[in-house]
Amino acid sequence: MKMQTNPFLAEINEYFKEDGAWEKNKGRQQTKLFAYYFDQVITFPDQKFTLLDVGCALGQAAAFFSRRYPNASISATDISEVAISRCKRHYGELAHFFTADIENVSGFFDVIYCSNVLEHFLDFEEKTRKLTSCCKQLCIMVPYNERTHEGYKLTTDLTNIEHQYSFYEDSFDFLLEEGLVETIDSKIISCPGAWGYNRRQKITHGIDNFLRKILSKPRDHELLQIIFDIKTAK
Ligand SMILES: C[S@@+](CC[C@H](N)C(=O)[O-])C[C@H]1O[C@@H](n2cnc3c(N)ncnc32)[C@H](O)[C@@H]1O
Repeated sequence: MKMQTNPFLAEINEYFKEDGAWEKNKGRQQTKLFAYYFDQVITFPDQKFTLLDVGCALGQAAAFFSRRYPNASISATDISEVAISRCKRHYGELAHFFTADIENVSGFFDVIYCSNVLEHFLDFEEKTRKLTSCCKQLCIMVPYNERTHEGYKLTTDLTNIEHQYSFYEDSFDFLLEEGLVETIDSKIISCPGAWGYNRRQKITHGIDNFLRKILSKPRDHELLQIIFDIKTAK
């Protein structure tokens, strides 16, 4: 068995404890909302299919897909055994949950759904190659053109588990160049309540940017997500 080497595992587990930082930061609602917004963009036509949610946190997306596609077989995985144990308790009748590092995901699925996970890794390309080898359709959701509050592009910082990368329309083109996938479609969306602005926030954001312009400060970028719908060559 491969040893667990993730240096942040203890921190991640702490996050997912009952009433821990994940829940305090409304992580459960966020996961559910991401799945809801994803569903507005991508529908799976075949009702009988297998889906794996990679980086499932406390399981709200897996539960969402299970209810949305009652004939599908839903599995979900996360590196955090604390999160997975809670998933089993709450949603164990809806999906099959197991603990695994993204690098050790095995099996083959019609669909892999991976929402707001890959931006945390320096080696997101390697991890994505791995995921393409395990499915026919890889659906990735990540922040689009994320910036620092000062308006600069994100820089990598290996000392934390925060976002290391932001993504653009061509971020996964290397998969096409390497012949690992057949097509990649992408769509940029706003996810109010999760990662985006509602109408009131948009107005505040507009005023903030107007003031920034007057003060010659860089523009604050809108929070957006990008969904990649990747069909592998299998
Ligand atoms: C920001 S959360 C996203 C959760 C959920 N997918 C969503 O859309 O809200 C990132 C998740 O990835 C998991 N994760 C981090 N590193 C991982 C790894 N190496 N392998 C598998 N999961 C990992 C974390 O435990 C966490 O649940």
